[in-house]
Amino acid sequence: MELLKTANEVAARTTAARGRGETVGLVPTMGALHAGHASLIATAAEQCALVVVSVFVNPLQFGPGEDFERYPRNLEADLQRAAEAGADLVFAPGIEQLYPPPVNITVHVGELADVLEGAVRPGHFDGVVTVLTRLFNLVGPARAYFGEKDYQQLVIVRDLVRELRLPIVIVNCPTLREEDNLARSSRNAYLDPTARAAASVLYRALAAGAAATEQGTRDAAAVRRAMYAVTEMEPAATVDYLEVTDPERLIVLERIDGPVRLLGALRIGGVRLIDNLAAAPNPTAD
Ligand code: PAF
Repeated sequence: MELLKTANEVAARTTAARGRGETVGLVPTMGALHAGHASLIATAAEQCALVVVSVFVNPLQFGPGEDFERYPRNLEADLQRAAEAGADLVFAPGIEQLYPPPVNITVHVGELADVLEGAVRPGHFDGVVTVLTRLFNLVGPARAYFGEKDYQQLVIVRDLVRELRLPIVIVNCPTLREEDNLARSSRNAYLDPTARAAASVLYRALAAGAAATEQGTRDAAAVRRAMYAVTEMEPAATVDYLEVTDPERLIVLERIDGPVRLLGALRIGGVRLIDNLAAAPNPTAD
């Protein structure tokens, strides 16, 4: 597996691959690779001749007071994990490679950036789509791979490629979970043992919401109450939001008439966790 650090090198390498008719796949990451990333890379390796994994902690998507400085960085471990999972090339640029000064152009996300994660993290999704636009342009992937754990990000990335008519297929991969169903995340490394023991409360809350939905609860407020009832049992958890939304546009619902996406974010021991689950009313529940 190759490690490239400059934009010119990665552009030359991927242009050559496309010239040979090879399918280029991109797995964009901020490093701290875990089993969830490995499954994205493995899926890309099944579908693409050249699998590029980008490792870049993107400052534009962190707000003031967020964890940009302390975000886990370990390129050696990332290289090993990426190679084991089937990557052909890791692109680990310095900031000047993706954002050569002056930085005049950023990409702005519309109203989807103002709800849920965006309401708590203003500017976050603009940062995400700005770096992805630059990465997509450099790497020229035919396919790009994203985890469903960051569900709002996935919806926004689909908008990005559709609205800008980028010739990229966005492939979504299911969330990987620990034994207690905590979603795999690079930020789980911040959890101390007490916070780690409490962290599965987010999944349990979403699962309670999914069960209520599947049992035929049509009132979204009642589903929300079922989720909050679980988190209230865990004094270490402070909820940012637990919502019932439509799966396509993430509109917060009042009434459930079909499939929904339940999304949640909470803080435990100073660590912010997000997760989501799909649910649909069971047709026999009416
Ligand atoms: O999901 C992430 O790790 C990041 O938001 C991404 C897509 C790599 C952009 O920096």
